[in-house]
Amino acid sequence: MSEKPRMAANSWSRRQARDPFVKKANKAGYRSRSAWKLIELDDKDHLISAGDQIVDLGAAPGGWSQVAIQRSQPNGRVLAVDLRKIQPITGLHTIEGDFTDQDVRNKILKFVGSGQIDLVLSDMAPNISGVRDTDQARSVALARASFKFAVESLRLGGTFVVKLFQGSEAEIFRRELESFFQRCVVRKPGSSRADSAEFYLVARGMHNGE
Ligand SMILES: C[S@@+](CC[C@H](N)C(=O)[O-])C[C@H]1O[C@@H](n2cnc3c(N)ncnc32)[C@H](O)[C@@H]1O
Repeated sequence: MSEKPRMAANSWSRRQARDPFVKKANKAGYRSRSAWKLIELDDKDHLISAGDQIVDLGAAPGGWSQVAIQRSQPNGRVLAVDLRKIQPITGLHTIEGDFTDQDVRNKILKFVGSGQIDLVLSDMAPNISGVRDTDQARSVALARASFKFAVESLRLGGTFVVKLFQGSEAEIFRRELESFFQRCVVRKPGSSRADSAEFYLVARGMHNGE
């Protein structure tokens, strides 16, 4: 969930101006401060390898995709999906649309091929309504949709990274994930704001659930 709508515009701008990760992102040419979250996750868990096929769900404006492209060279392929238009990035393929639409998922599979993906990333977040339970439920629904897609499309042994927001549903979701992946760990990168309820699940070694 974006934090911007919850804050007055001027306090949000002040916080952005002071934020070291915003400064680092601007300096390094990343489109979002979120890029640092994937950098930290990858530095710790070695998620991305050269030649990987990667699907980045909820990718706009494109910070995670930039990192995924850099770290999967040579021969990597990254496909980014978002409701919002993603301005072109060299080497990035994009699909504009709602990931929860079957047509959009079919387009992704047409591009990458079912069972061929090494890594599914989901940093998707719903538009915040301000009603805590509604927002939590929407966030888990998006996470579940990306989990279902990951299980259908990853190669055996593949990796899935998904953003969640703390809550009782999130714990249930983590247990569901554990039945399809050999290892599942909770990560809260240093660049994820301490006052944000977001965290990431890193699930490795996809198997067929048996
Ligand atoms: C936190 S932003 C992602 C930031 C991105 N990882 C980056 O580094 O630039 C969350 C994104 O999820 C997208 N999103 C939310 N629901 C979606 C859906 N149903 N289908 C596709 N994208 C969705 C939003 O449009 C938003 O751009």
